[in-house]
Amino acid sequence: MKEQLQQLKNEFDDEITTISSNEDLENIRVKYLGKKGKLTAILKMMGKLSAEERPVIGKLANEVREYFTDSIESNKEKLRLKEYENIFSKEKIDVTKPGNDFSNGSLHPITITKNKIVDIFSRMGFTIERGPEVDTIFNNFDALNAPKDHPSRSKSDTFYFDAEKILRTHTSTVQIRTMLKKKPPIKAISYGRCFRNDEIDATHSPMFNQIEGIVVGKNITMANLKYTMETFVNELFGEEVVSVFRTHNFPFTEPSAEVDISCFKCKQKGCKFCSGTGFIEILGCGMCHPNVLEKCGVDSEIYSGFAFGMGIDRIAMLNYEIDDIRYLYENDIRFLKQFGRKI
Ligand code: DAH
Repeated sequence: MKEQLQQLKNEFDDEITTISSNEDLENIRVKYLGKKGKLTAILKMMGKLSAEERPVIGKLANEVREYFTDSIESNKEKLRLKEYENIFSKEKIDVTKPGNDFSNGSLHPITITKNKIVDIFSRMGFTIERGPEVDTIFNNFDALNAPKDHPSRSKSDTFYFDAEKILRTHTSTVQIRTMLKKKPPIKAISYGRCFRNDEIDATHSPMFNQIEGIVVGKNITMANLKYTMETFVNELFGEEVVSVFRTHNFPFTEPSAEVDISCFKCKQKGCKFCSGTGFIEILGCGMCHPNVLEKCGVDSEIYSGFAFGMGIDRIAMLNYEIDDIRYLYENDIRFLKQFGRKI
C-alpha cells in the first residue's frame, strides 16, 4: 500500500505539471481527492490492514492528502497570476506611442454659408425666427397675397398634404408667422428648408434652403431696403461688388425687385458663373404689400416694411464653385470633407 501511495503521488506530480486552466485543476482534484477519487479508494482499503500497519500507512496517506491539497492550492494561485500576466501583456499601454489620430468632422457647405449670412444680419440687429417646414396654405400663399390662380399653387409645383397643409415652398411663411406673433417694430430673419415639386437636375432640387428677412416699423422706406441689401452684399461678397436693383414682381411686395450683383468671380469680365453677363442674380426683395401687413393685423396706414429672400444653396454653389446642386444632398463624404470646420 505504501508503494501504491508513492505511485499515486508520482502520477499526481506528472499530471499537475500539464494543467493550464482552473478546469484542469478541478478535474485533478476530483480525480484524486473526490468521493470516487484514487486516494479515497486507497484510504477505503485501510480497514484491511493490520493493526501495526494502519497508523503508519494512515499517517502516510494523510501526508499525501495534504500534499495533494497544498499542491492544488498553490497551482490555483499560479494560474491566477498567469491569467493576470496574460491580461497585462495584452492590455499593456505604451505611453510613449503617438496618440491615435481622430479626424474632425466638417460643417456642410450649406451650413457654413447659412452661418455666414445669419452672422451678417445678426450684426445688423436682426433676430432669428423659426417656422415649420409643414405649414398652412394661408401662411404660404393666402396671407402673402398670392392670387388664387397663381401657378405656384398648382399641385404640380407644390407638395400638398391636404386642403390646408403643404410643405412650404419658401421661407416667406415666417414673415407671416412673425407678424401674427409680434407687434412692430420687427426686424427678423428666418432660414430653413423649402420644397417644390421640381424635377432634379444640376440646378433644381425638390428640397432646397432659403433665408428670409422682414423689417416692419414706422417710416421704413425703399432707402432702408437698398441700404440693408447693399451692406449685406458687400459683407458677404466683398467691398468692390456692386448691387443692381432690377424691377420684378412678387405678390407679397410692392414695389418688388431682384438684386443682381457684379460677378465677384470674373470682376465683370464675363465667366461661366455669370453666364458671360458680368452680373449674378442673388435675391428677391421689395416693400411689404399693404394687403400682407393688413392680413397679419398690422395697420398699413401707420406701418410699412420691407422683405427679402434668397437661396442659400445657390450662394453656396457660387462661393465654392459647385456646379451641380445634387452634390449638396447626396452626402458623399469625399465631397463633404472638402469644406473644413469653417463658420
Ligand atoms: N419667396 C420668394 C421666392 O421664393 C423670395 C422672396 C422674394 C422673398 C421677395 C421675399 C421677397 O421676402 O420680398 O422666390
